[in-house]
Amino acid sequence: MFSLQNKITLVTGAGSGIGAAIAEVFAQAKAYVFVSDRDEKSGRETVARITDQQGQAEFVALDVANEDHCQQAAQQVYRSKLRLDILVNNAGIGHVGTMMQTRGEDLDRLYAVNVRGIFNVTKAFLPGMLMQKSGNIINLASIGGVVGVRDRLAYCTTKFAVVGLTKSLALDHAREGIRVNCICPGRVETPFVAARLKEYPDPEKAYQDMASTQALGRMGKPDEIAHAALYLACDESAFITGTAFLIDGGWSAGK
Ligand SMILES: NC(=O)c1ccc[n+]([C@@H]2O[C@H](COP(=O)([O-])OP(=O)(O)OC[C@H]3O[C@@H](n4cnc5c(N)ncnc54)[C@H](O)[C@@H]3O)[C@@H](O)[C@H]2O)c1
Repeated sequence: MFSLQNKITLVTGAGSGIGAAIAEVFAQAKAYVFVSDRDEKSGRETVARITDQQGQAEFVALDVANEDHCQQAAQQVYRSKLRLDILVNNAGIGHVGTMMQTRGEDLDRLYAVNVRGIFNVTKAFLPGMLMQKSGNIINLASIGGVVGVRDRLAYCTTKFAVVGLTKSLALDHAREGIRVNCICPGRVETPFVAARLKEYPDPEKAYQDMASTQALGRMGKPDEIAHAALYLACDESAFITGTAFLIDGGWSAGK
């Protein structure tokens, strides 16, 4: 059983989907979890589910696209717990569209959260990790950060950037006690996918198409991603850094 006993963790976008599942699995592994989200209601609901199960969690309001919020969140965490051991940069947003269907503003909006957001949050917490000479950063990229995906021009652009950021950051700080990895899920059933489905004229057909992109013929579950995050967060994965960990139901194995 992987344990996060005595580990202080923060998960962004933890009000919903994969982030909520990671926060809950970390709490079950005995971590203290700062549950952060720009949506206070859903973030507090995740905290309530954790504390109802005797887990330890508190809410941190945080829009990752806002640099000031990130600095304030770091101050809140360091004031209360003096350290952060594990940071999960999970918050992310999507968009359906080819180049011709994507406006510059769409790309900017996705970049601000998916890339600049990870940059902002990491910038706020990395100095503390460097001082304590230990830290573990897990970024949510996507299968769309490893292979191209039709109709996801802006999304793939940002997720390839997340993989690049992850690998560069991992190399820069590998000898300073910091590990950095990213997880690249295939399609996972969350409100994120439900929102994309609404952008199609025939959502039911789009659902079947999306499920069948995975060799396993189904979408993943948030919990299946959360347990991979738990492994990367634990000392048992101490030899892993700079990796893009595919959990894609066989999508990338070929047709
Ligand atoms: N669901 C999938 O199929 C899938 C596949 C590959 C990768 N991912 C990635 O996994 C991550 C989580 O996806 P999900 O499916 O759980 O999404 P979701 O929409 O269910 O949840 C995302 C959460 O992030 C929060 N959020 C959005 N923008 C934010 C911001 N600026 N600051 C703080 N919080 C913000 C939302 O309020 C929400 O609670 C994303 O980075 C997504 O790109 C998802």
